[in-house]
Amino acid sequence: MASEQETPRPCALVLFGATGDLMRRKLVPALYNLLLDEMLPQCLAIVAVTRRETDRDDLLARLREGIEQHSRRALDADVWARLESAISTVAADAESERGLVPLREHLAEIDRRCDTSGNRLFYLAVPPSAYAGIAAGLGAAGLNRPGEGGTFARIVLEKPIGRDLASAVALNHAVNAVFNEGSVYRIDHYLGKETVQNLLVFRFANAIFEPLWNHKYVDHVQITVAESIGVEGRGEYYEEAGTTRDMVQNHMFQLVCLTAMEPPASLRPDAIRNEKVKVLEALRPLEGADVAAATVRGQYAHGVIDGKEVSGYREEPGVSADSRTETYVAAELFVDNWRWAGVPFYLRAGKRMTKRVTEIALRFREVPHHLFPDAALTTNTLALRIQPEEGISIKFDAKIPGTEPRIKPVEMEFDYEGSFADGSPEAYERLISDALHGDPTLFIRGDEVEASWGWIDPLQEAWGREEPTVALPEYTAGTWGPAEAHVMLARSGRTWRRL
Ligand code: BG6
Repeated sequence: MASEQETPRPCALVLFGATGDLMRRKLVPALYNLLLDEMLPQCLAIVAVTRRETDRDDLLARLREGIEQHSRRALDADVWARLESAISTVAADAESERGLVPLREHLAEIDRRCDTSGNRLFYLAVPPSAYAGIAAGLGAAGLNRPGEGGTFARIVLEKPIGRDLASAVALNHAVNAVFNEGSVYRIDHYLGKETVQNLLVFRFANAIFEPLWNHKYVDHVQITVAESIGVEGRGEYYEEAGTTRDMVQNHMFQLVCLTAMEPPASLRPDAIRNEKVKVLEALRPLEGADVAAATVRGQYAHGVIDGKEVSGYREEPGVSADSRTETYVAAELFVDNWRWAGVPFYLRAGKRMTKRVTEIALRFREVPHHLFPDAALTTNTLALRIQPEEGISIKFDAKIPGTEPRIKPVEMEFDYEGSFADGSPEAYERLISDALHGDPTLFIRGDEVEASWGWIDPLQEAWGREEPTVALPEYTAGTWGPAEAHVMLARSGRTWRRL
């Protein structure tokens, strides 16, 4: 991963979709924080590409407001002035060679002024349906070809990459026809989270966990990504996606990969990514009748969260009244390899759940022989809290002081805030910085995307064959999902963790 000390080489950062939400809420606040930490190139050139002529002052006012509302650190007028002066705007039809002429000329002018020598980072903060067209346009305009002597042209894409295997393959193909794979940076913002990166450190910088990290000691793994928010005005998008495409194929599978992967031979980007792909390829396919037994979907119904009434999914704007799109999914999956043989990985993700929490928990096997027959022993659990209240805890039994041989579960906890005074950077700070440095470790390689869709496709096909008039199970907003998900675990005598 890129060193935080060195500033990246001069480069034009070209942002497509400059008037969009991602730009305002995430990208510009991240750039602001990077600048605050002096982690952007010395001569910074940010080119905001819009489809139509846009008033620069209006755009800047919007971006400034984005920082005020979404930056983790307050806006400093001097730093904003530096950022603002680095932002130029260009209106361009990005999907055609002719339409990109103004951008090409603008970049040539930046090269003369800013010593960027042809280095470009193209960031596509646009709807995924535009990715292939923009990549092709950049190719036709010759903007994909770096200049002389080790200069670079990279492209950054946001999830989702495709909506199934075929569309992901087609998109990868279209993008790779213009940018070689080493120049393609596919974002899964979960990999930018500090606590997700810490998974590698936790597992591979400490000797004490590795001997336990396998089927001999782990009974099962639970990964939870619960959100209390609903679809937040994105009803139309969500209807097409559902939780499986929105959260499982990308974020949750990345968590599965980092939990299950073998130690990589080194920290080289491909050494890590190779190990992740092996996990995805080892996922036991779920097909046909197995799908119903090993998955549960649900939809949130009207309920109360934090004392506020919230509507059900099918009452959300943009959502069909007879929608069968899942806002909750739970699945039992197996990583069929030597390390994890027979160990279920239980995944659950949902909107409008009791609270926002992302956690990976390893639950360990029982002791081989009970010496304390009168005590109900706890299940030893190692929990990695990704967000919020980031930390790690270990649950085990301890003797209650006194003459009676009584036992009680206790927890040992590490929390980030207590141990590290400085707040963590936002995921997008890390990701933009790494893309500027040319470090692809925290980005998704094309084969990772394809392997994960390869597992999801049969699931979607099986669900697509279901009787369309039968509604999905409902769960009241503010609860932990449909009862069916609890039944799924109860079948093997297990329970979801109470979080
Ligand atoms: C996005 C999904 O990728 O991740 C959203 O599209 C979801 O639906 C979001 O809310 C969750 O991200 P985070 O960082 O808040 O856990």
